[in-house]
Amino acid sequence: MSGFLPYGRQTIDASDVEAVVEALQSDYLTTGPTVARFEEAFAQFVGVRYAVAVANGTAALHTAYAALGIGPGDEVIVPAMTFAATANAACYLGAKPVFADVECDTLLLDHNVLDPLVTERTKAIVAVDYAGQPCAYPALRAFADRHGLALVADACHALGGSLNGRRVGSLADLSTFSLHPVKPMTTGEGGVITTDDPDLAERMRVFRNHGITTDHRQREQAGTWHYDMVGLGFNYRLSDLQCALGLSQLARLPVWVERRRELAARYIGLLAGLPDVRPLEVRPGVGHGWHLMVVRLIGACPPGFRDVVLAGLRARGIGANVHYKPVHLHAYYREHLGTHPGLVPVSEDAFARILTLPLFPAMGDDDVDRIVGALEEVLEDVR
Ligand SMILES: Cc1ncc(COP(=O)(O)O)c(C=O)c1O
Repeated sequence: MSGFLPYGRQTIDASDVEAVVEALQSDYLTTGPTVARFEEAFAQFVGVRYAVAVANGTAALHTAYAALGIGPGDEVIVPAMTFAATANAACYLGAKPVFADVECDTLLLDHNVLDPLVTERTKAIVAVDYAGQPCAYPALRAFADRHGLALVADACHALGGSLNGRRVGSLADLSTFSLHPVKPMTTGEGGVITTDDPDLAERMRVFRNHGITTDHRQREQAGTWHYDMVGLGFNYRLSDLQCALGLSQLARLPVWVERRRELAARYIGLLAGLPDVRPLEVRPGVGHGWHLMVVRLIGACPPGFRDVVLAGLRARGIGANVHYKPVHLHAYYREHLGTHPGLVPVSEDAFARILTLPLFPAMGDDDVDRIVGALEEVLEDVR
């Protein structure tokens, strides 16, 4: 692939275009039958009874937390090494995110540090399947059960992944997905929550529709205008156009995950020749979704060093990125929750060292070779 390589990119072909055009020419652009078809296909793919489609991954988190009854004064344990939305969605409900540290070699939530974080107000633990690797759900499940907490998977990175043969999306009480263009599949913007619990599924359907129990098509079919708003909800619906794209993308997802795995294996093989760089570890039993190819710089990493490496890659046409600045270091949280450096040392040390290298299904093997070659060159220049 010539030109600038972004860190992630959607794959769209003629079948996607055809699916969206067909939806455009149908009777329903939103709240139509394609939404239900997409939800059924998604639920079947991950191996649960219910999937609820929403406007984006952030709305998926907000909807999931609301369905669990999280509200003012409650606490939700989230890893600091995640996108801000994992924590923000708790704040939307007046709850407080409590930041937990991650394991240094996987950057996944460390279940060994959770005990002191649990208080009387804790309602849920949110595990983030960072980079596409599912967390240690059996251990997290045992911990959550011991403390009477709900277990949420922020699986926005990990669609198509699995743990011990069970698909991501079926490993927690509720699992949330993002369908943003850089994610494993896309609907432009979009999100999904999956669960086996019928009550949670129903609460989420109502929440995404203003807190109203029926949608436009259901009322039309019942021949009535009447509706009731039973709670305060949002318009978080996903349209039929987006769900048509979702159905078409979902059919090709397994092939893309396979390609991501091939590219990741090539990266890991080549990176073994660079002593200053190490990929994240992959735990036994994991079927990795490989949303992100994250590497760590090893050895001394003075402030700013990682950004010099990143700039060197960008100057060579490689769109390296950083996932993530730990959430508690953002100005909003420092100001509103009084969070500070030193709170989660493993996440903070990782932040100084991590780089996300390009990884998406349309990349060729030669792209990986070029990226690793460029990284070697940049490190020789700056060390
Ligand atoms: C871990 C994680 N959670 C939540 C989100 C939010 O998803 P969206 O951008 O679709 O709102 C993202 C997306 O960037 C994410 O990576």
